[in-house]
Amino acid sequence: MGRAPSGGFRRFAWTREDHDLSEWFDGEAAARGLDLVTDAAGNRWAWWGDPDADGPGVVTGSHLDSVPDGGAYDGPLGVVSAFAALDALRATGFVPARPLGVACFGDEEGARFGVACAGSRLLTGALAADRAAALRDADGTTMGEAVARAGHPPLRADPAALRRVGTFVELHVEQGRGLVDLGRPVAVGTAIHPHGRWRVDIAGRADHAGTTLLPDRDDPMLVLAQVVLTARAAAQRHGALATCGKVRVEPNGVNAIPSHVTAWLDARGADAGRVRAVVAEVAALAVRSGGAVTEESWTDRTPFDPALATRLSALLDDAPLLPTGAGHDAGVLATAGVPTAMLSVRNPTGVSHSPAEHAPDEDCAAGVDALVRVLRELAG
Ligand code: GLV
Ligand code: MN
Ligand code: MN
Repeated sequence: MGRAPSGGFRRFAWTREDHDLSEWFDGEAAARGLDLVTDAAGNRWAWWGDPDADGPGVVTGSHLDSVPDGGAYDGPLGVVSAFAALDALRATGFVPARPLGVACFGDEEGARFGVACAGSRLLTGALAADRAAALRDADGTTMGEAVARAGHPPLRADPAALRRVGTFVELHVEQGRGLVDLGRPVAVGTAIHPHGRWRVDIAGRADHAGTTLLPDRDDPMLVLAQVVLTARAAAQRHGALATCGKVRVEPNGVNAIPSHVTAWLDARGADAGRVRAVVAEVAALAVRSGGAVTEESWTDRTPFDPALATRLSALLDDAPLLPTGAGHDAGVLATAGVPTAMLSVRNPTGVSHSPAEHAPDEDCAAGVDALVRVLRELAG
């Protein structure tokens, strides 16, 4: 669903594709006789057992939305593996001692409205409902309007839905080459590195590309070029990562000097101070050049429950313990106080957020097998 000409996928929140994906999820839940709940933040839960009657459950799952031209595995692997693990458990006659849930979080990538993990952040209250409703997509549609058009009531936090989650485990394709280098198919997550997004606004003066002399120009594209190169050099120097992957140019004409450029900086790294130092350098350059920098999101280092990670690593034949630079709903739930773990599945090239993202079938099967063992351990 949502296949793009590039071979990747465009599955953005509160669109037709998103609706079709939700229907697919609901169908898979119904086919297994699971109880489907859509929470007030727009996330979907398929329950085997009743967490309201029998206490908080063990939940596994991920998301189905994508970045622009994203791969097939980032998100869907965790949802599909959750259903497959549940089937495998049932096939052995396993009956859980605690309710078991499969989750599908909404709007994990933030591709349309700019805030990543919007569904889980709304759920926990980390993203305020009124701020979320006012977020705008590239066409000026607010999230509130898109949600209403999709026939969903205004999104809000849902403490009752969160209380049903006793433990959360997210399985995800690895977004790097840690497992390839170690020669192992599955890892257990230790932490998510600090990361954030910043918007850089640079105003200029629109004018004719063929008649305006160079000294007479006020061209915001030149400042953008400096911003991009400064981000790269600062990241290199500070041992962090910085990316300008999205740019909006107005009016975006070949033969016109732009009137305004907006760029987004994604900066991450193992050390929050170093990430902040990169952003400070970029911001200083942008402001010196007449631009403005606005922080759109910041997530500090997010550790997963260390005792749980150690226990699952031992359970999975001493699976490697790896941190990640990618954000996940699991991180949002961990921050909200839910005991949380992540499993990652080997990606032979490490490439992700790209049509080339991949995991071989046998490693996906190893991921399901690991998830089966984890669910049996936690819910048995
Ligand atoms: C989500 O995939 C992110 O890390 O941006
Ligand atoms: Mn992603
Ligand atoms: Mn993901």
